[in-house]
Amino acid sequence: MAVKRGKLIHAGKANNVYETDNPNYLELEASNRISAGNGEKRDVIEGKGVANNTISKAIFTKLEKLGIPTHYVGEGSNDASKIVKKADAILLEVIGRFKATGSYVKAYGVPNMMPFDGVYIEYTYKSDSAGDPRITADAIVANGLLSRRELGYIEYITERVAYAVKDFFAKCNGELIDFKIEFGRLPNGQIIVIDEISPDTCRIIDMTTGQSLDKDRFRKDLGAVSEAYVELAKRVEKMS
Ligand code: TMP
Repeated sequence: MAVKRGKLIHAGKANNVYETDNPNYLELEASNRISAGNGEKRDVIEGKGVANNTISKAIFTKLEKLGIPTHYVGEGSNDASKIVKKADAILLEVIGRFKATGSYVKAYGVPNMMPFDGVYIEYTYKSDSAGDPRITADAIVANGLLSRRELGYIEYITERVAYAVKDFFAKCNGELIDFKIEFGRLPNGQIIVIDEISPDTCRIIDMTTGQSLDKDRFRKDLGAVSEAYVELAKRVEKMS
């Protein structure tokens, strides 16, 4: 499958999106740009794009093998990019948590790292101007983002993704604490997992040292951000 990169159609906070010569496909390039707090804090992290893409491609490959439908098609034109199916993005961020931390602890004041019974799932409405507010299942349906049936499907897929990604990082000596995924719709109506699954969108703790191997290093000014991403990508490459 030779897909040729076309023109840049979108430069997001962390990813660049290119047209391709196949109208059904896009090329998604992970950049070294990093941001937190709805874009208020920004920087450039050497090696992040390639590391994220290596990790994301390996996870999407695993999901596809498990029969979980994703947008992933194959390698892109460079090490930071992948070819994906063009899909209509559903304006939700679906967050899965194995342990409470981050905004959950801030919202509810429970002890940091309180374990959940299974996977706790919540949703935010993707809107930069509204600051990505939490959204309830009833509001998702009432606002026409998903039907009740589609919401049930997304919950089921998110739970399957949760255990697949937890198992994936465990093989790299990392504990998955929480993650965010996004979904899109293909022209035929099928709902698929889109975007990326990487240390930008997951919290992963090294099982030996207890250190963060993800964007928390940037959010909390812990230092060695590039080193953490590159180290995790090395472990992923060793595994595959
Ligand atoms: P939170 O604790 O800040 O809500 O984050 C939960 C998980 O979701 C964490 O792994 C980071 C990820 N996440 C994103 O990838 N993008 C976002 O915009 C937010 C708010 C969280």
